[in-house]
Amino acid sequence: MSSEYSNLLEPIKIGGHEVENRFAINAMEGNDADPEGNPTAKTYKRYENYFAGNSGLIDLEAITVTDENVSRKMQLSVLPKNEKPLTDFVKAMRKVNPKPLLVWQLTHSGELSNPEFSKRVCVKPLPGFGGEVLEEEDIDRIIDQFVLSAKIAHNCGADGVDFKNCHGYLDSQILRPYNDRDWKYGGPWEHRKRFTFEIYERIQKEINDPNFIIGSKVSMWEGFPGGQGTAGPNSPVIDLTESLDLVKGMEERGASFIIVSAGSPSLTLALTQPDKKVPDYIYLHFTFQKQVRDLLKKDTVVIGSGYSVLNNGHNNLQARKKEENTFLYWGEENIKNGITDMVALGRQSYADPAIPVKLQEQREKEIKWCTACDHCVEFLIFQKNIGCATYDKDYVKLYQEMKKNGETLRAKRT
Ligand SMILES: Cc1cc2nc3c(=O)[nH]c(=O)nc-3n(C[C@H](O)[C@H](O)[C@H](O)COP(=O)(O)O)c2cc1C
Repeated sequence: MSSEYSNLLEPIKIGGHEVENRFAINAMEGNDADPEGNPTAKTYKRYENYFAGNSGLIDLEAITVTDENVSRKMQLSVLPKNEKPLTDFVKAMRKVNPKPLLVWQLTHSGELSNPEFSKRVCVKPLPGFGGEVLEEEDIDRIIDQFVLSAKIAHNCGADGVDFKNCHGYLDSQILRPYNDRDWKYGGPWEHRKRFTFEIYERIQKEINDPNFIIGSKVSMWEGFPGGQGTAGPNSPVIDLTESLDLVKGMEERGASFIIVSAGSPSLTLALTQPDKKVPDYIYLHFTFQKQVRDLLKKDTVVIGSGYSVLNNGHNNLQARKKEENTFLYWGEENIKNGITDMVALGRQSYADPAIPVKLQEQREKEIKWCTACDHCVEFLIFQKNIGCATYDKDYVKLYQEMKKNGETLRAKRT
């Protein structure tokens, strides 16, 4: 083993499991499921690459607990009809590499459901989004859907679930101070956190398998007035009191990992995914990671996000020295200094998910670094299959076709 990256390559315990290194594949939608929400050959190919790359943990992209309210046209779903195909999928991945832990990110899109092919619903209409307002019995039913989906994930052989608490999806919508409607799931913080905690308690009780881990990806601060981690329904000011109480409460209810994130990409994209224009947002991610790491018990694993822009130093980050603006530098530093326990890679995973195995085999020079071109974001916005438009020839071609058809963000703006 290369001693140069001894922190990144050190094993760690998550729940009752030990994983080989400190890398995670962040949840990354591929928008390439079949009409029933089952994995296709394209989905298989992406995950086979992830498993071959040997990250300690792989977070299966946002998989919907309902097919009534979805944000992607070709989104994976976890309903009874999907159980057999998803079981086959897990078996196939374990054959590629049995070592990584596999968790599934359970989601409901709420107001981010796409009205072109789905039903938009919300807890309080947000300008620019809106949707049919959900009542208490609707949320009670959605809780049942999450619990059922967690049971299906368990039956299919997943190691656990990441109950999605981030990026403006339904749970963010319920948790954020903007949800100041006075009802069972809104108004005071005690009401807004009820949805998450009830789902945690029910999953623990009804699955009751100590090997099945539970955790969440959390937007600590959504970055707009009334978003998660703000001081009130009209305030953009950072106040982490609720976000920290949320992660602590999830830990008390059995969370063995927390994936720290920020932003709400449909409103504050550069915050969730620091880009070449604003790479310094990564320092805000480090700050949030440290706050969570300092608060939680030592054996609750903190996983940081947002690192892809660092790549091999081709960014405009304000660093003291050139050597201090790379991913490998900050990955090592942050683990060594107790900022985070693991690092999850998002866009980098489309470019090259094999960093762990390449470091383990001293093949660092072969790493294909994410260029943060963010064409993957454009694939997502235009409802295309998603992959790397820098290194994967199929997606390079797809992006060229989109350019020809005027389906790019630049064409949309002009
Ligand atoms: C195309 C695309 C799809 C994404 N899909 C998901 C998802 O399914 N769930 C999620 O929590 N985050 C999703 N994200 C956000 C990433 O997981 C990650 O938090 C973000 O990109 C920052 O990490 P990075 O700098 O390593 O890319 C997505 C991001 C992109 C660009």
